[in-house]
Amino acid sequence: MNKAVHQPLVDEAAPANPDANIVAVRGITKYYGSDVHALDNVNLDFPTGQMTTLLGPSGCGKTTLLKIIAGLLDASAGEVFVKGQVVTGTGPERAFVFQDFALLPWASVIRNVAFGLELTGTPLKEREDIARTYIEKVGLAGFEDKYPHELSGGMRQRVGLARALAVDADVLLMDEPFSAVDEQNRRKFQEDLLRLLSVDNKTVIFVTHSIEEAVYVSDQIVLLSPRPGRIHSIIRPELDRSESPDDIRRDKVYLDTVEEIWSNIRKYLE
Ligand SMILES: Nc1ncnc2c1ncn2[C@@H]1O[C@H](COP(=O)(O)OP(=O)(O)OP(=O)(O)O)[C@@H](O)[C@H]1O
Ligand SMILES: [Mg+2]
Repeated sequence: MNKAVHQPLVDEAAPANPDANIVAVRGITKYYGSDVHALDNVNLDFPTGQMTTLLGPSGCGKTTLLKIIAGLLDASAGEVFVKGQVVTGTGPERAFVFQDFALLPWASVIRNVAFGLELTGTPLKEREDIARTYIEKVGLAGFEDKYPHELSGGMRQRVGLARALAVDADVLLMDEPFSAVDEQNRRKFQEDLLRLLSVDNKTVIFVTHSIEEAVYVSDQIVLLSPRPGRIHSIIRPELDRSESPDDIRRDKVYLDTVEEIWSNIRKYLE
């Protein structure tokens, strides 16, 4: 049985490889004002079609890094590459899924899901057809005409996920997307995400506070140290995905990887 594999940290001097890594960051440093040093020289590759999770203590800069990659926030130093090109703002190939999903309260489910397409000027009929497809994929068929306040927190998160998928971005940037759902739905959500990933070949950059969730869903886990956020280690859980979800969670590789991350976190909390 494979053990979790640590890969070497990214060589800062090495050029970003656009064929293997749809997104890469080099030398990302972020100050807020003159005294808050949020991120320090972060170098990372995000492999195409894979799920990378950012894990680390509150305030270590996870949301900051995600927003810089999305182009919603400027770095103080460093560069973001998408398909080998330096980017300086937002782009249709990257979709940001906020923690609260920022749904439009006055718009129906279908309008919310089609909203990204509305912004890109897709004709009404086409965007509604696309929206219906994704509403069905996230298990909300029949709820097209409901409004956000008529849905549960978990259902609202599904609307947000459908909206992100509908714009057909290659890269989904998800900031604690499952934080508002109970454990049972969270596990179902994780399965949905893994299934959508394998079908649609998305690249996902995901933030969570749950070590178990990180190990379960990720190809690559980036453990960040406390502020200023620096890369502490990169861990690749080598789970046997042919096993059932329950068996994966009982598997020694899964349990060992969770424990290994815990012991790393304990070290810098001491
Ligand atoms: N707009 C801002 N202005 C000033 N400081 C900020 C701003 N946004 C974030 N910070 C600070 O930068 C640091 C990193 O914040 P960030 O939100 O990226 O952390 P995080 O890892 O996402 O934390 P959490 O796990 O609590 O969501 C924190 O110390 C925070 O207080
Ligand atoms: Mg955050």
